[in-house]
Amino acid sequence: MSKNIVIANWKMNPEKSLQATKLYQATFKKAGKFKKTEIVVAPPNIYFPQNFKKNKNLKLGAQDAFFGVTGSSTGEVSSLMLKNLGVTHVILGHSERRALGEGNDLISKKLTAVLKESMTPILCIGERERDPGAQYLTFLIEQLKSALSNRSKKDMGTIIIAYEPVWAIGKTAVDAMDAHKLHVMTIFIQKVITGMYGREVAAAMKIIYGGSVEGSNAFNLLHNGNVSGFLVGHASLDAEEFGEILSAVEQKKNK
Ligand code: PGA
Repeated sequence: MSKNIVIANWKMNPEKSLQATKLYQATFKKAGKFKKTEIVVAPPNIYFPQNFKKNKNLKLGAQDAFFGVTGSSTGEVSSLMLKNLGVTHVILGHSERRALGEGNDLISKKLTAVLKESMTPILCIGERERDPGAQYLTFLIEQLKSALSNRSKKDMGTIIIAYEPVWAIGKTAVDAMDAHKLHVMTIFIQKVITGMYGREVAAAMKIIYGGSVEGSNAFNLLHNGNVSGFLVGHASLDAEEFGEILSAVEQKKNK
């Protein structure tokens, strides 16, 4: 039985290294209480904690990784470099990176590189807005197919899909997606994957949700949304609030 997972995406926060150390320590302390949930913290790379390898309960994530290994790629950081620092999970294709021009092809290459290093990719997908003709479903199918085509079944078992409707990101709990609508979306994603790889692969795949998850809505989203965890943005910058999310996830049976 695999554990539910909660990933803290700190994005480009906090401003100062000392604040990052304090937040990491507080998150570390919280994480120690929750044994049934896989917990990952993804700070800006520059704030990776020095003593990280000693930590079993909290895994280290990155918010992106380049597809090359080493060489002439100014400003980039490779999956291998991250792995060597103890990173186990890499967020890819976040909508905030897509908004800067990152396209499906680049994301697919990055996904291949992360898998090659035997790390866990968190593939973010999500529509910017919903149109009455439901074209956004076609958009989601494209995001899924471009990243997931021609993968081995083993790799499919490693990849985690983070469904993050862009319109629900960075707001408050009341603006998050309705849990029952989320359930419809997880079924939709599973259907697309069933079409590509069959029912068994689709059923085993972890689908998580991101978009204004807070302590107050986490239990309902998890319980009624049919997800295996969360990608948490702003609420992960407050260890108390993050702890409430972890506590809600810990209460739900794993898949
Ligand atoms: P949010 O961010 O929790 O602040 O909505 C989620 C995300 O962008 O991953």
